[in-house]
Amino acid sequence: MAKRATFVTKLGVIAATVGSSVGLGNIWRFPYETGQNGGAAFLLVYILCVLFLGLPVMLAEFVVGRSAKANVNRSFLTLAPGTHWNIIGYMGVFAPVFIMGFYSVIAGWTLDYVYQAATFGMSQKSPEYFATAFTEFTASPIRPLFWIFLFLGMNYFIVSRGVSDGIERASNILMPLLFVILIAFCVRSLFLPGAKEGLSFLFHPDFSKIDSGVVLRAMGQAFFSLSLGMGTLITYASYFSDKTSLPKTAVTVASLDTFVAVLAGVIIFPAVFSFGISPSQGPELIFITLPNVFQQIPGAYIWSVLFFVLITVAALTSTISLCEVAIAFLHEEFHFTRRRASQILIFICLVMSTLCSLSFGPLSDFYILGFSIFNFCDFLASNILLPAGGMLISIFVGWKLDRQFIKEELSNHGVSRVWYFGILMFCMRFVAPVAIFLIFLSGLGLF
Ligand code: PFF
Repeated sequence: MAKRATFVTKLGVIAATVGSSVGLGNIWRFPYETGQNGGAAFLLVYILCVLFLGLPVMLAEFVVGRSAKANVNRSFLTLAPGTHWNIIGYMGVFAPVFIMGFYSVIAGWTLDYVYQAATFGMSQKSPEYFATAFTEFTASPIRPLFWIFLFLGMNYFIVSRGVSDGIERASNILMPLLFVILIAFCVRSLFLPGAKEGLSFLFHPDFSKIDSGVVLRAMGQAFFSLSLGMGTLITYASYFSDKTSLPKTAVTVASLDTFVAVLAGVIIFPAVFSFGISPSQGPELIFITLPNVFQQIPGAYIWSVLFFVLITVAALTSTISLCEVAIAFLHEEFHFTRRRASQILIFICLVMSTLCSLSFGPLSDFYILGFSIFNFCDFLASNILLPAGGMLISIFVGWKLDRQFIKEELSNHGVSRVWYFGILMFCMRFVAPVAIFLIFLSGLGLF
């Protein structure tokens, strides 16, 4: 049997896994969620969710993937033969298709914005222009599709090359680039006139905004941001070497992911406050508000280009991890070559994202269960498949796997001490399943 692919270097493991978690969730969603839900108070709740929910589920996924060394479906079949736990694997194979559907649309928009910014399409424009241009662009049947196809082509280019030559190499280049741009923006932002106000909004908690709905939003955000619940991290961990420390990797990934989300806030809020805009703008914050804000700062051209390059890079390193879940499955279960598996998956994603994109224009009257196609994909993946998957994974590891087996994996067979094992098991068995169940019910609008 051919040797199974792995990540080759320690840096590659971190770059790829952080690449998966740092994405639109950090730079597009986190700032507006924070803006709408109490600034620092939201951040605080978010950090607690990362600690008590995110880290345990991440470690659960790592244990499953690294010990079974197989795709999501095969991992559950290997660890629990003769049972139906591999249903989690099937959910994990379908979820990326839905996430890719809506995620690629937003990534396609950002590519168009890179082009607009680079060709001076944004200079000297009025605030009204940005709002109208965005609505017209997203509703147009063809232009967004061009960028979506290009974005999916970039994904194909990377994933079809394999785990170390494709994913690891791309992450090793793209992630440092992402951090350099982020730091440059951060420094720029701190010199804006509204920096103090922006930072105090981000770091002074308004606890009056915190209610059960906000806590649930923070949990959902932590979950999405850390790429949990659909086997992405099971698949990536199946490429980790036996020497990789699972707890250290999890802590590094969770810390860097949270750090980037906070940095996105540090970049965005000073800019927003400097130009007297409300911090509680919704999803259009980065497509309408920020391009407008950038036009008013010195060096507008370069900052606008860099900002949209940043978002594209963040999105790309996340989508390749989404693709990999399904590609590993098709490759290992149906014996397609990697290239063929990538072609099949990217083709399905093309169809899904075309439908999602058209739901802003020609298909805007078409609804599934009351949602537009775009919102349906987002809802199904983020509110149903991810939380359900996450809950089942933590129940599987917490209740079905042997405690000693988990401890051996976490300590790399006694190499390191797992002094927190009791707390971790408690979180995996009780805290995470109950909390995720609540997110699930609230995602369904049941309370
Ligand atoms: N974590 C990514 C983000 O924050 O944008 C999104 C994501 C990637 C979610 C991979 C789920 C996943 F499996």
